Amino acid sequence: MSFLVLNNIKKSFGQTQVVKDFDMSIEKGEFVSFLGPSGCGKTTVLRMIAGFETPSDGTISISGKDQNRLKTNQRNIGMVFQAYALFPNMTVADNVAFGLKVAGKPKAEIDTRVKEMLKLISLEHLAERYPYQMSGGQQQRVALARALAPKPQVLLLDEPLSALDAKIRVSLREEIRQIQRQLGITTVFVTHDQEEALSISDRIVVMNAGRADQIGTPFEIYNRPATRFVASFVGTLNIIEATVVDPAANTVRMGDNVVTLRDSIGAMKSGDKVSVALRPEAGSMSDTAKGDTTITGAVISSHFLGSVIRTKIDIGGNPVSFDTFNAPDVVQPQPGETLSLRFMASDLLLVRD
Ligand SMILES: Nc1ncnc2c1ncn2[C@@H]1O[C@H](COP(=O)(O)OP(=O)(O)O)[C@@H](O)[C@H]1O
Ligand SMILES: [Mg+2]
Repeated sequence: MSFLVLNNIKKSFGQTQVVKDFDMSIEKGEFVSFLGPSGCGKTTVLRMIAGFETPSDGTISISGKDQNRLKTNQRNIGMVFQAYALFPNMTVADNVAFGLKVAGKPKAEIDTRVKEMLKLISLEHLAERYPYQMSGGQQQRVALARALAPKPQVLLLDEPLSALDAKIRVSLREEIRQIQRQLGITTVFVTHDQEEALSISDRIVVMNAGRADQIGTPFEIYNRPATRFVASFVGTLNIIEATVVDPAANTVRMGDNVVTLRDSIGAMKSGDKVSVALRPEAGSMSDTAKGDTTITGAVISSHFLGSVIRTKIDIGGNPVSFDTFNAPDVVQPQPGETLSLRFMASDLLLVRD
């Protein structure tokens, strides 16, 4: 049986249903991200797990125990928010000690635990600082230590990195993941940043308007997106509007090219329109590249981005972007020239709405 189970959760505010039939089972020690655009209900689900909101319907259980009637402070959950929510008038050490003091732990035990926690986030030397004397990244590490100090059974992180600079975001997300692994703590991490979710999660829940569109490993979410929403929200994606040629043979036309799809077209007729997706990294302009399919189109534009060159070609009126790694022998395509793009047919995904 899973550790944290959300069973058919619904939540309405007044007439508006913001969470719809949300089901999710999280294993002990797992790191799960909720990924979705602003307003899709990520924070609301997190707040229901923490007990700040009550579901309109459905149950939440942790380790087999129904949480619905438990108050926030009875759930033993640690939480970190986006904005630095440290107590401004308390030192770092006092911030980390806060939950333990509230729980009435003896002073000696609190002191030991605070030291342990500050060591965990490598900030032992700043124990007597106040929040305003620290960078945003340091404050979020203290917020993490404060949340972990009472040994919560679940850790909830609500966009904890979104107020930080890009470089700090990357290093801190790796630090969070490393600490999470070290402690083996079951964690739900909310983000609207797909790269963040892909890079640190065991599994991702892609949320769309209050629903979980897809739940899977980063690899599954990226490579086999279940819906058009997931395909376009996670990663950069080309959508090519194609026309069915022969449904029995799974062939479609894209501009001047006829290609065979791996996905079954199903009950469609010749001439029907279908949407097909292709990732920018799937194609190559080298004739010797691995691939079983080639399409040809005119170059619309080509931009040098440093590590890659991103080139757009016109495939039957659809702009199709693809990336080429920068290399000593790379030749940047010029607008107007005709270019062949080679890839595996299995990288073409039939997109359903
Ligand atoms: N207390 C509330 N009262 C009314 N509407 C709310 C409340 N909290 C959130 N909402 C609405 O619910 C939707 C989901 O919000 P939220 O869970 O914060 O989304 P996210 O965290 O994904 O950005 C939004 O449309 C938001 O305006
Ligand atoms: Mg939110």
